[in-house]
Amino acid sequence: MKSKTSRLDRFVSQNTDFSISDTRLLVAQKRILVDGLPAYSVQQKVTQFTHVVLDGRCLKNNDPVYFMLNKPKGVVSATKDLKHRTVLDLIQHPRKNELHIVGRLDLNTTGLVLLTNDGAWSRLISLPETKLAKTYEVTVSEPLIDEYVAVFREGIYFAYENITTQPACLEILSEYTARLSLVEGKYHQVKRMFGYFRNEVLALHRVSVGNISVAGLGVGESRPLTEKERCC
Ligand code: URA
Repeated sequence: MKSKTSRLDRFVSQNTDFSISDTRLLVAQKRILVDGLPAYSVQQKVTQFTHVVLDGRCLKNNDPVYFMLNKPKGVVSATKDLKHRTVLDLIQHPRKNELHIVGRLDLNTTGLVLLTNDGAWSRLISLPETKLAKTYEVTVSEPLIDEYVAVFREGIYFAYENITTQPACLEILSEYTARLSLVEGKYHQVKRMFGYFRNEVLALHRVSVGNISVAGLGVGESRPLTEKERCC
């Protein structure tokens, strides 16, 4: 079987946050081992069978990638679109074209979007049975009243899907703002839940999914998830 070869600097840049040009320094500092020996050149050939270790960590071409993005308004949760900028346009990663979106947000919804190439992980995050809270900050057009809290906790019937929504936790923050935690992600779910009370959602921001929070990330910024976040 013929194996695909690649230059060491390209391989390193595709599998780490280091760039092709950073690799020269990594080689000079003897931080890269190729099949157990210090790398001697950025042009060294590696294949999928080569064992490449950087700072003690084994690099593999099929390493999964996990990213978070703070989606701005007007950016579409898709990987391709003819009209709008997509979430993928805001990600800088050499293998970004492998990524898919874990739980889309509407065009005008802002906040946390997760992307990965690990299908098993995204299924786990999305399954209602996992009971992972997706938390949103919501601004509505009509005053909020305590009755919402009980109705959201009981569940709302969605005729189109013939389902009742899972218990959701609503915390009223002010007359027009609330924090809502859901364990599922039906189409336009938050807007439809407030729609039950004929209350229009004027602004919607996803702040977290499980223990992964968008706090601290600027609008339009993205970064890889930490190991702790991935284990949410
Ligand atoms: N619910 C909505 O209605 N819109 C979103 O973007 C996310 C959840």
